[in-house]
Order: sequence, then structure tokens, then C-alpha cells
Amino acid sequence: MRQPLVAGNWKMNGSLESIGVLLDGIKAGMEDVTKAAVAVCAPAIYIPTVQQQLQGSAIAWGGQDVSAESAGAYTGEIATSMLKDFGCTYVIVGHSERRAYHGESDQLVARKFAAARAAGLVPILCVGETLEEREQGITEQVVARQMDAVIELEGVAALADGVVAYEPVWAIGTGKTATPEQAQDVHGFIRGRVAELDGGVAEGLQILYGGSMKPGNAAELIAKPDIDGGLIGGAALSAEDFLGICRAAN
Ligand code: 13P
Repeated sequence: MRQPLVAGNWKMNGSLESIGVLLDGIKAGMEDVTKAAVAVCAPAIYIPTVQQQLQGSAIAWGGQDVSAESAGAYTGEIATSMLKDFGCTYVIVGHSERRAYHGESDQLVARKFAAARAAGLVPILCVGETLEEREQGITEQVVARQMDAVIELEGVAALADGVVAYEPVWAIGTGKTATPEQAQDVHGFIRGRVAELDGGVAEGLQILYGGSMKPGNAAELIAKPDIDGGLIGGAALSAEDFLGICRAAN
């Protein structure tokens, strides 16, 4: 049985004050979330604050991006060792917003996955197609290409140390959730593709869905056999909504 995971991706939102209130709210409502793992991925500058507030709680934390390099002259970048220094468990790599607005290639994302893994962080590898790609009928091709970059660089066994998040770009922040069937189709495809290479890794791989997941649609999505939780954007900024999704996953 795979443990469900609900991870919040706050993106570029929040302030010292709002994060304090949000985390207090989440912590206060966690007592009935006993089975699902829960994490929040914060803007890098707030990670020390998040660590202070969450240390000793059942909630893990992580970064939203990380450098593929280990140290040196890379102005503005954050290294995996720095995330480790502040107690991060997870780091998101290859979010579609990084791919689209920061030109991150499949190969760079694969190197970030490798760097995170080497540092003992759990990379959350985001994959997913744009609306145009879905309409062209190439969703599986796109997701396969994004997955294969990691498998080619690190080998399929590396996926045992990571998490995959299927995030259809057209569903992110749009209120347009993939139907449970649409999501399951792609999740099943991802697991099947990994299974062709290693059945054990495929069986253990947590595959999260992301894209307008809310308390009202989370249960139906997570009930699908290959959907193991969620990567939550907008709804992760409200303690009530985030907890609603955590309970659905639980
Ligand atoms: P929304 O939940 O706001 O659609 O964002 C999803 C996402 O991009 C999580 O990484």
C-alpha cells in the first residue's frame, strides 16, 4: 500500500505574518490526519520560519526549486545542501511554471532531480502537458519524454527515491480540474511505463495529481487506483481547504 501524500506548493505567495497564521491553522487541524503524509513547499526565504514552526510536528517541508549545481558562482541560486541545512524533506523540480517561465529543459530538470536525490532530499518531479498538447493528442508522449529524461540520467531505480506529480498545465490555477478519469488515465500510463522497466519501483511510486485540486474534488481523484495524493497550489493557502484535502487523502 502506498502512503498518500498531500503537498502544498505555496508558489510566490505569503508573508511572515500570513505564513504564521496558515501554519498555526494547519497544525491545529492535523489530529485526524493520521495516515496521509503532509508537506508544504515554501518560498526559499521563508523556509527557516517554516522549520521553526513545524519542527516536531507531523508536517514536513520543502523547497519549490533548487539548483542542479552543488555550490559556487551561481548568483541567486539555492543549493540542495542549503535546503538540507534547514530541515527540508522535499523539493519540487520541473514545475511547469519553471519550465515555461524560466526555460527549464527536461535535461536540466533531470539534473535537479539527481542533485536533490544525491543530497538526500525527496524530489517531487512535475510532469504534464499543455492544453495545446492535449488537443494534439500527445499527452502521453510529452509525459513520457519528461519522465525519460530522469530515467536516462539516473536509471529507473532513482524513482524509488522520488515522487512524481502529474500536473496538466491547463488545470493549474484555472479552476478546471482534470476529471478523475482523465487524471487516472495519465497516472496509469506513468506507472505502466515505469513498470515496463521495474515493477517494484512502479508499485511503490507515489504519483500525485496537481491542478485545481480542492476539498470538493480531492476524494474522487485520490480514490483512483494510481492517484496517491495531491500537489496543491491555491487551496494550500487556506488552512481549511488544505486540511480538507489532507482529510480526503487520509
Ligand atoms: P493549483 O492547485 O492552484 O491549480 O496549482 C497546482 C500546482 O501548480 C501545484 O504545484
